Amino acid sequence: MSYGKSVIFLSVLACGILAVSCAGTDVYKDPSAPVEKRVEDLLSKMTLEEKIYQVTQWTYGKNMNANNVETSMKEVSPMIGSLLYRSTSPEYYNMIQHKAVEESRLGIPILCGFDAIHGYKTIFPIPLAQSCSWNPDMVARSCAVAAEECRLSGVHWTFSPVLDVARDSRWGRVSEGYGEDPYLTSEMGVAAVRGYQGEDLSDTTSIAACLKHFVGYSWSQGGRDYQYTEISDQTLWDTALPPFEAAVKAGAATVMSAFNDISGVPASANSYTMNEVLRGKWGFDGLVVSDWGAVVQLMSQGAAADTTEACMKAITAGLDMDMVDDVYLTSLDSLITSGQLDESVLDEAVRRILRVKFRLGLFEKPYIAELPESERFLLEDSRKLARAFAAETFVLLKNEGDILPLSSDRRTVALLGPMADNREDLMGSWNGQGDAGDVVTIREGLEASGMSVKYFGGCPFDGDDRSGFTRAKAIAAGSDVVVVCLGEKKGWSGENASRAGISLPRIQLDFLRTVASAGKPVVVLVSSGRPVEMEEIARHADALVEIWQPGTEGGNAVADVLSGLVNPSGKLTMTFPLCSEQQPSFYNQRPSARPFMGHYQDISKKPVYEFGYGLSYSDFEYGELRIDHESVATDGRLTAEIDVTNVSDTDGQETVLWFIQDPVASVTRPVKELRHFEKRLIRAGQTETFRFEIEPQKHLSYYDGDGVRHLEAGDFRLMAGPRKVSFALL
Ligand code: GLC
Repeated sequence: MSYGKSVIFLSVLACGILAVSCAGTDVYKDPSAPVEKRVEDLLSKMTLEEKIYQVTQWTYGKNMNANNVETSMKEVSPMIGSLLYRSTSPEYYNMIQHKAVEESRLGIPILCGFDAIHGYKTIFPIPLAQSCSWNPDMVARSCAVAAEECRLSGVHWTFSPVLDVARDSRWGRVSEGYGEDPYLTSEMGVAAVRGYQGEDLSDTTSIAACLKHFVGYSWSQGGRDYQYTEISDQTLWDTALPPFEAAVKAGAATVMSAFNDISGVPASANSYTMNEVLRGKWGFDGLVVSDWGAVVQLMSQGAAADTTEACMKAITAGLDMDMVDDVYLTSLDSLITSGQLDESVLDEAVRRILRVKFRLGLFEKPYIAELPESERFLLEDSRKLARAFAAETFVLLKNEGDILPLSSDRRTVALLGPMADNREDLMGSWNGQGDAGDVVTIREGLEASGMSVKYFGGCPFDGDDRSGFTRAKAIAAGSDVVVVCLGEKKGWSGENASRAGISLPRIQLDFLRTVASAGKPVVVLVSSGRPVEMEEIARHADALVEIWQPGTEGGNAVADVLSGLVNPSGKLTMTFPLCSEQQPSFYNQRPSARPFMGHYQDISKKPVYEFGYGLSYSDFEYGELRIDHESVATDGRLTAEIDVTNVSDTDGQETVLWFIQDPVASVTRPVKELRHFEKRLIRAGQTETFRFEIEPQKHLSYYDGDGVRHLEAGDFRLMAGPRKVSFALL
């Protein structure tokens, strides 16, 4: 056969094979086919019932969050789209997934999600603590560990990171976010997405991130959870949305709609935020899942008369998956068959869900290896990371006479207080699959470090039992130094944990005062999920450290910092108000009409500790703030530099925070706004030059209420440390 004829023959043969293969197999099952083709092929094959199951999420396994009332353990349908999956057993997971892949008509794998908010089995510090490290790389690395522990246990999707910008310490969920600044929250959120999702979502060490709670949940009235939120469009765009925009652009696979009513339109039925902004402006093509029962709650919010209306409002607003309240499961069929809702709306929701499943590689790799826990959880490197990260989140608030680090001649340490030998509460809320039994207590950490410890709890978290006070004081009097461990129970922050007062219970403060009267040096450690009142605590402390809720390796991290093995470098990412009544207290507020007036008559106007505050065992001196030009064009660059010298004999890490202020603009601007930060090790006696390359469009502009960025010529101020300079934007 001639060459030409053989080519023709082979081409015809190839087409024939292709035709047969397409007719015989489904494109959606072809891993080499583009995701969008696989999505469309599968969608075209699905029945209405199969589509409705795809947009439905049930729970499976024991309940982790007391606020999520346990739903009945439904018999898992092979068609179910997603499970809030709470078992850690690969065997169970494979059994359930096998049911979906082998027993359903189209073999669509189940998407399994879980709240690995700050770790899965290895529990890392709560996110608020993590933000105080000012170390996005550590955030990414801890999320990567959580991702691997999740994926090896059958969880493909975490409902994290929380990008709610903190506004009120009475709101318990400030513990789950990255503080009161939108820029820092953006940077940490992007790091979390990268840590969870890795380079390729289909890797067996990657999981889908979920940006929550979209949007404005932290503006809940009075800090009371689930309450409505009054948020102006300008604040929505300039403060609440930027972290979500940054994380979407970093490739986040999913988003969770929030509980709150946004100035009259609940987030879970808000077409403006979910369709116009999230998809229309940002191009997000992943899925949006509701928060727990948020669809049925549209009725209690007065946005829907019944579940049918709730269903219609939610799905047409762009909410793709209904978490556990079965409104979609029970309402969509009639809405569509009656013609009230076009099936194309449901198709779009199913399309987004299938897209995420294909991107995760679930069709190619639906099952997981059935590895023992010892090969999946709490690996040595994971514990090491948890320990180092926890130590980097601690904030040294006071260190009178350099009592810390504890020198070797402080031979005997009296270790007292309700947190001193506590496990469960050291993990904080949303401790995933973390077990208290795996936690290293502060007592264990100090003893393991070689300190001579006299431990006595001496005081309960709350209540009136002061019977241990006398003995505690005697132990203090007989020791070289006293370490008092106070704090919140893990259930005092997190979801549905709003507190009118942010003071620790009276009995803990009385205990501290009693023990301090023994006359020995006192180090106070506070473990909390939110800023708490510190003014009275600080009065009775020679040294004071906010250790937050540090997780599985908390005790060892405390020992590392108290011993000086680790030099504390944390800085506050939430303002610590004088008291609960001194709120809102976040730093980035708009200027007052009368800055020197209007403050409360009965209390000081100053917070106890400001945003960005944190001490070190080193001493850092800031040089002059230099800029390379007095003015900059809108398309130009302005380089700012500042030298920071470590004038102590101890190496230490310092974070330089760069703020701008736009004193006059068409829309009033906050008194200052964080725009850049950099953390660096500065050796003893050395000087480091920190630099901020100002790009006007990125660093000097602001959003108006329509989501349009504005850059306005005029004077600006730049601040770093105690230094401030002015420059002009031309
Ligand atoms: C909760 C929380 C949300 C969580 C979800 C699933 O009520 O608001 O943050 O991801 O339910 O547990």
